[in-house]
Amino acid sequence: MMSIYQRLFSCGIGYPPKPEENPVKFTFIYTKEHEAKEVLAREGESLLEVAHNNHIELEGACEQSLACSTCHVILEDKIFNDLPTPVEEEEDLLDLAYGLTLTSRLGCQVKVTRDMEGMTVKLPANTRNFYVDKKKAGSSDK
Ligand code: FES
Repeated sequence: MMSIYQRLFSCGIGYPPKPEENPVKFTFIYTKEHEAKEVLAREGESLLEVAHNNHIELEGACEQSLACSTCHVILEDKIFNDLPTPVEEEEDLLDLAYGLTLTSRLGCQVKVTRDMEGMTVKLPANTRNFYVDKKKAGSSDK
């Protein structure tokens, strides 16, 4: 079984791009701690992969298989509006996300583009991991 640390950083190649790779630069904001961290990303990476490559604590419990909502992120209006519409499975999972907003998306489904340079991505104060939550609920029934 993977440790929480392994699960947190199981997506992504493990390190941010080097300057010569012409990275896209933007910021993640931990809304709970009011802390901001600038990150470097490659075009085409998911926001979840970028987070993990830059040691941002964004969980991805299902490893990008569109089966959880632990990679929930909150985007700026302009970035959100320019993205393709989420597939139905993503919308269903977002409905279960803690702290859902009008510009929420699943981080594993959003791919980095050059237009995202300078954006801010908010991390919700909490996430709902229904795999773990369901196990906890099951164990309390016994
Ligand atoms: Fe599970 Fe994104 S990591 S849906």
